[in-house]
Amino acid sequence: MVYVTRRERFNAAHRLFKAEWSDEKNYEVFGKCSNPNWHGHNYELFVTVKGKVSGETGFVVNLKDLSRIIREHIISKVDHKNLNIEVDFLQDKFVSTEIIVKSIWEQLEHQVKLLGAQLHCIKLTETENNYVEYYGE
Ligand code: NI
Repeated sequence: MVYVTRRERFNAAHRLFKAEWSDEKNYEVFGKCSNPNWHGHNYELFVTVKGKVSGETGFVVNLKDLSRIIREHIISKVDHKNLNIEVDFLQDKFVSTEIIVKSIWEQLEHQVKLLGAQLHCIKLTETENNYVEYYGE
């Protein structure tokens, strides 16, 4: 089994908050990410797939195809958008990095199968110091 990772980047706005909490309580729990007037992050998304190396191409998956499905199903929907209100696959979800990676997994799992590989990990960096990984369980 060989693992292959593609990185894609996007910029998006969000806000972490609970409507039933005061601004003070939201700030206490979510810090600057609770800013009532939104804020943005420069996200980096790493999609790792695994599979057997093809005897014909020498690839697990053609990275051109992997990049295309990530851009089509994720990046085109989130780049320069507000994650709280504009993204179909995040509707009614809390947009923490943890929940975003699980949602991205749901969007890509089947698409990666169609390429003849298996999704292994979704990693998302929100800041240069923080990232979250999801392995599907
Ligand atoms: Ni934030």
